[in-house]
Amino acid sequence: MRKKIVAGNWKMNTLPAEGVELAKGVVAMRGEVCDCVNFIVCPPFTHLAQVAEALKGSNVELGAQNCAAEAKGAYTGEVAASMIAALGCKYVILGHSERRQYYGETSETLNKKMEQVYANGLTPIYCVGENLDEREAGNHFAVCKQQIEEVVFNLTEEQFKNLVIAYEPVWAIGTGKTATAEQAQEIHAYIREVLASKFGAAAAECPILYGGSCKPSNAAEIFAKEDVDGGLIGGAALKAEDFIGIGKGFMA
Ligand code: PGA
Repeated sequence: MRKKIVAGNWKMNTLPAEGVELAKGVVAMRGEVCDCVNFIVCPPFTHLAQVAEALKGSNVELGAQNCAAEAKGAYTGEVAASMIAALGCKYVILGHSERRQYYGETSETLNKKMEQVYANGLTPIYCVGENLDEREAGNHFAVCKQQIEEVVFNLTEEQFKNLVIAYEPVWAIGTGKTATAEQAQEIHAYIREVLASKFGAAAAECPILYGGSCKPSNAAEIFAKEDVDGGLIGGAALKAEDFIGIGKGFMA
C-alpha cells in the first residue's frame, strides 16, 4: 500500500502569525480525514520554527520548500538541510518548476541538494513536469523522463525508498487549469514505469503526487486514479478548509 499524501506548498505567502494560524486551522480540522492520509505543510523558512511549534502533538508533518546545495559555510542567504532538519522538518520540496524557471535550478544543482537532504535524514518531494509548449509538442513524457533520469537515477536503492515524486505540469500551476484525471493517470503511470526501469519493484511503493490547481472540487476525481497518490497543493493550501477538503478527496 502506497502512502497517501496531501502536501501544502505555501510558496512565498503568509507572515509568521498568519502561518501559525493556518497551521492551527489545519491541525484543528485534520481529524475530519482518516489517518491513512498524510498531511504535510511547507511554510516559508522564516516561520518553520513557529509552525513546528503549532504542529506539535498533531499528526500534521512539516516540510521546507527548498534547501541549499552545500552543507554549510560561506553561502550568503542560503539555508542548509541540517538547519531545516533541526527545526523538525521531515520533508523538502526539490526542483519545483518555479525554482527551475526563476532561479535556474538544474539537475546538477538538484543532485547536490538531494545529497544534502538524504544526509540529514529528510525526505525529498522531487517535482517534475512539462511546460505548455512541451505538452503541446507532445514532449511531456520525454521531459519528465529526463528530469527523473538526471536526478532520481543517481539515488541508491535505499534512498529511493524514501522519495516522493510530484508531477506538476507547469501550465496547470496557479492557472486554474487542471490536468484531467486521465492526463494525470497517463503520465503518473509512465513515471512509475520509468522508475521501475531503474528500481524495479520498489517503484510500486513510490508515492507520486499530482500538483497544479488541485482543489476540493477536483481532488476526488484525480485521486481516484490508480497511480495518483495525492497532491502537492499551492493556492488551495492557504485555507485550512480547502486543504483538508482536498484530503477528503480520498474518502469520496
Ligand atoms: P497551485 O500550485 O496548486 O497553486 O497550482 C501547485 C504547486 O505549484 O505546487
